[in-house]
Amino acid sequence: MATTLITGGTVVSATGRVAADVLVDGEKIVALLSPGSVLLGTDLSAGVDTVIDATGKYVIPGGIDAHTHFELPFGGTAASDTFESGTRAAAWGGTTSVIDFAVQTTGQRLQDGLEVWHQKAANNCAIDYGFHQIMGGVDEASLKAMENLVDEGISSYKMFMAYPGVFYSNDGQILQAMQKAAGLGLLTMMHAENGPAIDVLAEQLVAAGKTDPYYHGIARAWQLEEEATHRAIMLANVTGAPLYIVHVSAKQAVEQVAWARDKGQNVFGETCPQYLYLSLEDQLGATGDPQWGTFEGAKWVCSTPLRAREDGHQNAMWQALRTNDLQMVSTDHCPFCMKGQKELGVGDFRKIPNGIGSIEHRMDLMYQGVVTGQITLERWVELTSTTPARMFGLYGKKGVIAPGADADIVVYDPNGHTSISAQTHHMNMDYSAWEGYEIDGHVDTVISRGKTIVDGGQYLGARGDGKYLKRGLTQYLI
Ligand code: URP
Ligand code: ZN
Ligand code: ZN
Repeated sequence: MATTLITGGTVVSATGRVAADVLVDGEKIVALLSPGSVLLGTDLSAGVDTVIDATGKYVIPGGIDAHTHFELPFGGTAASDTFESGTRAAAWGGTTSVIDFAVQTTGQRLQDGLEVWHQKAANNCAIDYGFHQIMGGVDEASLKAMENLVDEGISSYKMFMAYPGVFYSNDGQILQAMQKAAGLGLLTMMHAENGPAIDVLAEQLVAAGKTDPYYHGIARAWQLEEEATHRAIMLANVTGAPLYIVHVSAKQAVEQVAWARDKGQNVFGETCPQYLYLSLEDQLGATGDPQWGTFEGAKWVCSTPLRAREDGHQNAMWQALRTNDLQMVSTDHCPFCMKGQKELGVGDFRKIPNGIGSIEHRMDLMYQGVVTGQITLERWVELTSTTPARMFGLYGKKGVIAPGADADIVVYDPNGHTSISAQTHHMNMDYSAWEGYEIDGHVDTVISRGKTIVDGGQYLGARGDGKYLKRGLTQYLI
């Protein structure tokens, strides 16, 4: 078993920072030591296989991106990152675990959808991976199949109040699934947008000739996110099921989450980098790319949509991350290329596949919040690693630098620099939603279960390094 000593760095956790050396033996962290320790008469740095000098750098638990969609079938195409390309890009960006959404399409057996996802991922991943289960059809059979999820290592599942005819569940179906989930200890994840109302608005816009990507954001009004969030909270309240709202983008939806939490209800929420930095007016009306004209806005079409900056949604998201009204930042990584994929929606924004790819940049983009004073260093680690581990039943193994935990470690250089561009990123996308972003910080070294997979600008990992994570029940309940 190879041993590694990371010396001279500042170990950052959700609760504080200490100067400490980190000793790794095989796949595990075995000790945190005072800097330069001589242990039982042995100079450790002479006795280990590898020494990594982290002087002046942060040593943090590897990022956990709890919301990804590799190879997701959507709008007549499929998300362009495979488990192989997507997890490799994640590794480049300091993420060492992902939780992807296994899909039950409508009419398919839940367990068959899960099996397909296992086949897609097995022996292909660069980093460890787990699954949530998407319920594409709530009926007697799928409700029964939920009973096996915990044994399969799947402690959370997602339903959609949007996308009628595709993933949509009505209130009665949602209530039934939540009742079941409450009994099983499953965490219900909700795409909270009023899909039927959105579809009517979208149809009216297209009929009026308003077909550009910008109108995607107009059809998906914040009121319809707020309303659905409230409805999901009330349905969860009736059933006693804990609830996690995914990809929150409207400040009014955050207010709903905060309201429920203040009453003591087990309601949680994540936002994503795109809702912190990007906006409806800046991106969806874009005309910067001569090839695409106003259709350039398709690069940023995702659901929930980007929101208007003048209404203060972005600031509200940062505020909620500080106050713990929102607990986590995931990417909702769902990449599509412009060529051949996004362009399916030329002339009708409803046909643009929904999604943005960011898996490679989450740690950097969130570190930028530390640089600008929006969040503390500790909160950065909490939002991107420790809380995802707790929320989704991985804590102790993941999300922390402590003896016994998996040696998933990132050495992050606060004095380094990262430029984001489609020319240099590793995601399978022909554009970057973040083109031109300059980050004050850099992922130097990434260790996944004791193996160095990124170092000095080199990728040292291999397809199949990543193993399936059987997750336990959420460890985050109030
Ligand atoms: O636009 C998005 N978010 N695409 C992925 C599917 C989803 O709803 O998360
Ligand atoms: Zn969603
Ligand atoms: Zn998603």
